Parts: sequence; structure tokens; C-alpha cells
Amino acid sequence: MPLVGPKEMFAKAYAGQYAIGAFNVNNMEIIQGIMQAAAQEKSPVILQVSAGARKYAGQGYIMKLVEAALADDPSVPVCVHLDHGPSFEMCRDCIDGGFTSVMIDGSHLPYEENVAITKQVVEYAHPKNVWVEAELGKLAGVEEHVSSNEHIYTDPDQAVDFVKRTGCDSLAIAIGTSHGAYKFKGDAQLDFPRLQIISDKLPNYPLVLHGASSVPQEFVELCNKFGGQVGGAKGVPEEMLRQAARMGVCKINVDTDIRLALTACIRQYFREHPEQFDPRSYLKPAREAVKNMVAHKIRDVMGSSGKA
Ligand code: G3H
Ligand code: 13P
Ligand code: ZN
Repeated sequence: MPLVGPKEMFAKAYAGQYAIGAFNVNNMEIIQGIMQAAAQEKSPVILQVSAGARKYAGQGYIMKLVEAALADDPSVPVCVHLDHGPSFEMCRDCIDGGFTSVMIDGSHLPYEENVAITKQVVEYAHPKNVWVEAELGKLAGVEEHVSSNEHIYTDPDQAVDFVKRTGCDSLAIAIGTSHGAYKFKGDAQLDFPRLQIISDKLPNYPLVLHGASSVPQEFVELCNKFGGQVGGAKGVPEEMLRQAARMGVCKINVDTDIRLALTACIRQYFREHPEQFDPRSYLKPAREAVKNMVAHKIRDVMGSSGKA
């Protein structure tokens, strides 16, 4: 199966009230671990590449790795997506380089500028059959200069206006999640009433949840047990993500949990095998740890097993 856009994945996910996992990729082992998990679970999957990942690995390397993974096992639909595209130019380069979906992230811009840049990307992407995700509202914790939550959560009426004016295909919304391992100081809370209103105002329209790692405590503890210092980390409870998937959220982004699984595994390996220095000795179990984490997400959080 060649690379696909997310249109069909999302239509089925919306109707079936589950979500597609969008997992961040940075190197070969992460791509292989995710692809093995998707194949095992017979699930569609989105591999997403941030600007940082693109800089680290190189777009050409990432695309060749994805191509190799697809040739290895073409049994599941795979979409390659630019995560948090910062500019029209980067979106254009990814579209020209074979990505089937891009995100233009103008969420930090004044509203009219976000509309304008999103529209510009849509106008370039659509004739080439490429999907465009945009973002409205600001994820807490990232935009630290914004002090009031009310100002950063997505405004439902503005979301309708934004989608209408830009023609973007999916919309990332801010309802209380944030990127990284430190999402909540007290109890985890998402603004589900707001999500319901947005979803009602945009029927059949796929919404996206960023900052959706659950930060499983066993992995935090494993990291810390073997020399890490990941204190006070807290993520989004899995049941909240399942609930979001029943309310129009078709794409759920996960990066931090993959990082935690991989790092915990390598830390443990180094502590238990101090004599080893062959990278394959620790990258092999690390790849397996990525696979297990992603398989768990697909099965128990996204609900997309068997939907390929
Ligand atoms: O949304 C952020 C993702 O976790 C990507 O992180 O920019 O460090 O690659 P990154
Ligand atoms: P996490 O940091 O919660 O994994 O979020 C990742 C993300 O939203 C990537 O765009
Ligand atoms: Zn994100």
C-alpha cells in the first residue's frame, strides 16, 4: 500500500468513534517500532515529523526509512505528516517531498494572520491532494506568556469561522492538554463541554488533540530508578483520551510517551550491562519498547486495532 492521506482514516474513525494515533518519529528504530506495532494491531497509523525531527534526521532520510518500512510490510495504511509546521515554506517543502499531510501551526499568530497563512498552505496543498491540519487556540504550558486559560482555549465560534475561511481539513484545538511530561500540577482536567460545543458546531469534522501523552508512571519510575530525573511528571489519563475520541477527535498525538519508553529501556540496559557498547545491544530492546508502547496506545487508547 502506498502512503495515504488521512481522509479515509479519519472518516472511518469519526464514524466509529475511535482515533488514529499520530506518533512522532526521529530515527530508524522509532519508525520501525511504530510500524511493527501498527502491523501487529492491523491499525492505520500516522507517522509525524516535527521541524526538529526534520532537522535532526533530514527529510530525505526519514522519507527513505518510511519507504523501506512500507516495502517491508505494506499491510496497513500509513500517512506521513508534518507536525507543527512553522512556515509556508516548510509545508511546501514537505508537500513537494512526498508528505501526504501537513500541519501549519499559526496558533501563536494573531487570528487574521493565522487565517492567512493557513489559507496559503491550503491553496498549495489541495491541488496536490495533500491534507492540511491547522491549530486554533494555544496549548497551555507552551505559550507561557499567556496567563489566563480562557484566552488560550479554542473559541468554538472562532473555530467555525476559521475552518470556513481557511478550508483546512482538520483542526487542532486547545482544551487543556499541553506538550511534554508535565501537563498538570493538580488533577488532570480537560474542557469536555468546550470540546462538545466545538464538535457540535463542526459536525463530521475531524478534530485533533495535541499534547496527548499519558506519561505512564511505571516508565517515569523506571527512568528515575536507573538514574533519570523526571520528577512530578503527569499526563492525560487514558480514559479521557477515549472520551475525546468519542467526541469528534480523530487524531491523537503522542511523542513524550515514546521518548519515555525508549529512554527508560536504554537507561535500564546501561545500568544492567555496563560492559556493553555495541549500539545494537541497547537499540534493539529500545525499539521493542517503542513497539510495545505504541501497540498499547493503538489497542487501549486509540481503539484503532483491526481498523486497517
Ligand atoms: O509537539 C511537539 C513534539 O513533541 C515534537 O517535539 O519539536 O522536540 O521534535 P520536537
Ligand atoms: P506529547 O508531548 O503529549 O506526547 O504531545 C505530542 C504532540 O502533540 C506532538 O505534536
Ligand atoms: Zn503537538
